[in-house]
Amino acid sequence: MLIMRNYIFCAIILTVTLSTVLADEHWHYPTPGSNGVIDEAEHWGGKCDTGKRQSPVDLTYEASVKGAYAPFSFRNYVNPIRKAKITNTGHSIQINNNDNNVLIVGGGLPGTYVLDQLHFHWGSEHTIQAIRYGLELHIVHHDTRFANIQEASNIHNGIAVLGILFHVSAHPNPDLEIILNSAEPIKGNVSGQAPLVEKVSPYRLLPNDTTTYFRYDGSLTTPGCGEAVIWTVFTHSLPISLDQVERFKTIKTEDGHELLVNFRSLQPLNARALVYVTPGEDPVDNSAIKSSAISFTILMIVSAIFQHFLL
Ligand SMILES: *[C@@H]1O[C@H](CO)[C@@H](O)[C@H](O)[C@H]1NC(C)=O
Ligand SMILES: *[C@@H]1O[C@H](CO)[C@@H](O)[C@H](O)[C@H]1NC(C)=O
Ligand SMILES: [Zn+2]
Repeated sequence: MLIMRNYIFCAIILTVTLSTVLADEHWHYPTPGSNGVIDEAEHWGGKCDTGKRQSPVDLTYEASVKGAYAPFSFRNYVNPIRKAKITNTGHSIQINNNDNNVLIVGGGLPGTYVLDQLHFHWGSEHTIQAIRYGLELHIVHHDTRFANIQEASNIHNGIAVLGILFHVSAHPNPDLEIILNSAEPIKGNVSGQAPLVEKVSPYRLLPNDTTTYFRYDGSLTTPGCGEAVIWTVFTHSLPISLDQVERFKTIKTEDGHELLVNFRSLQPLNARALVYVTPGEDPVDNSAIKSSAISFTILMIVSAIFQHFLL
């Protein structure tokens, strides 16, 4: 009887362990209907379903408060990524970085963060005022206090992701062209790797203006959805052509289907603060200063008139 119970117990443990391992590899994005609309939510389990500080979110000016931080410093971002290879992960295409000197500091980040990898979502994951962009690049970093991203992935502020949005434009993006051309051989080969056909430096994938952005505390947008991410989503977007958006959609998943979209559904903001960071003075503060200056001038004139009459 006891042996039997132990056996069942072991079988349960084994099943749970296996399904946890499998959940990490075999999750998928819902496929849009023939009308292009996704009418099914993801069911990824764990923190993805129960978390209260999940990503992505709709970034709105109405829900945000004003912030001002020191400028970002992008260290060695101008260097081309060394020995760069592009991988089809089955959920995106990704370029890993092996150089520990590619770092970001400043921008209100609580530490120094080293670049791990870059990957893309077609349709953007974050929306601004409910507007979805053609593409969102995630530049993923972890706090240098941790040995690797796995160690950082369940620690508050362990990971810093920069989100860069691309708007559909008449002009193809030359850097995305290099990435798409490089991905051509591994489009249908999940876990396949290919070298970049030309050099790409992360700096070229940043918007010209990195002083205006949304900041909030959130999660990874893929399983296990660890709530470790300090998010920066720049409001200035880069161009991508319609043809380039369609080329991203030809990348294939593990089961051989085209990965038409790979963005997670919007998550509730709940009790979190959403910060809108802009440089310089707030126009509201400016007008407050101006109107108080005007009131002061009027007060001086009125008191001067009074004094005149009193004397
Ligand atoms: C897929 O990629 C791997 C690693 O890059 C390579 O060894 C393999 O031959 C590729 N398979 C096909 C079918 O191209
Ligand atoms: C960014 O700056 C470069 C160089 O000054 C310029 O050629 C490019 O058009 C700018 N891009 C945008 C989107 O403003
Ligand atoms: Zn991502």
